[in-house]
Amino acid sequence: MEISTIREASQFIKNKLTTKPELGLVLGSGLGVLAEEIENPVVIPYNQIPSFPESTVSGHKGQLVIGLLEGKQVLAMQGRFHFYEGYTMQQVTFPIRVMKELGIESIIVTNAAGGINENFKPGDLMLITDHINNMGTSPLIGPNDEQLGARFPDMSSAYDKEYLQLAREAAEALGLSVQSGVYVGNTGPAYETPAEIRMLRTWGGDAVGMSTVPEVMIANHAKMRVLGISCISNMAAGILDQPLTHDEVIETTDKVKQDFLRFVKKIIHTLPVK
Ligand code: HPA
Repeated sequence: MEISTIREASQFIKNKLTTKPELGLVLGSGLGVLAEEIENPVVIPYNQIPSFPESTVSGHKGQLVIGLLEGKQVLAMQGRFHFYEGYTMQQVTFPIRVMKELGIESIIVTNAAGGINENFKPGDLMLITDHINNMGTSPLIGPNDEQLGARFPDMSSAYDKEYLQLAREAAEALGLSVQSGVYVGNTGPAYETPAEIRMLRTWGGDAVGMSTVPEVMIANHAKMRVLGISCISNMAAGILDQPLTHDEVIETTDKVKQDFLRFVKKIIHTLPVK
């Protein structure tokens, strides 16, 4: 995506704001409720923003919600863009570029994911310690603009170590037990087969989903700090003797809403941002 396109979208958003956002939030399936806690929000539907795609999945709203949350100026994406919707990787990750252009240096990325690790149970929250890009492509393929980041970006600590530690401490302070593990990004939209899940387990995957990886790659390219949280909405295919449905995903995220909200709000309160 051209810098001029990124700047145009960023300028459009800036013109609607009186304060500078300092923390980006990407809210996954069923997790958009967090945006409802933002005080005096400026709400901008995606379809108004130049070059922004529109989101199409149920359980995803499709708007930016910007304002004060837990003492920080946040810009929340209520709904994100998925590769399986037919968007290009550049479109999927465009909002992250725009966040960076707005001056945001830190993001919290959330998603609903299937549990591969058999010690997990539906409703668990998992801190993402690392990821596996199993999407067969990368949002960084193509000419590299050095103004946006390096040709060969380092991914050896894609998820910020200090943020992870602070998130663990936040969980402890709340008496919440949270898991941590490796997130595998698949394209979807079909859920995995049991054989695929067994394979992903041998690879070291703990949870699997259809988002997050492209956004985190772009955030790292842009040298932003990232915290990732998965809500384990279901056990991955073949673990329990039952079919997987999007309804189950939404049902579970709905059930853990209160814990998720408490946890992320506590984290927002404590994370150092620029
Ligand atoms: N697989 C892939 N993506 C998902 C799942 C799953 O089991 N649950 C929620 N998103």
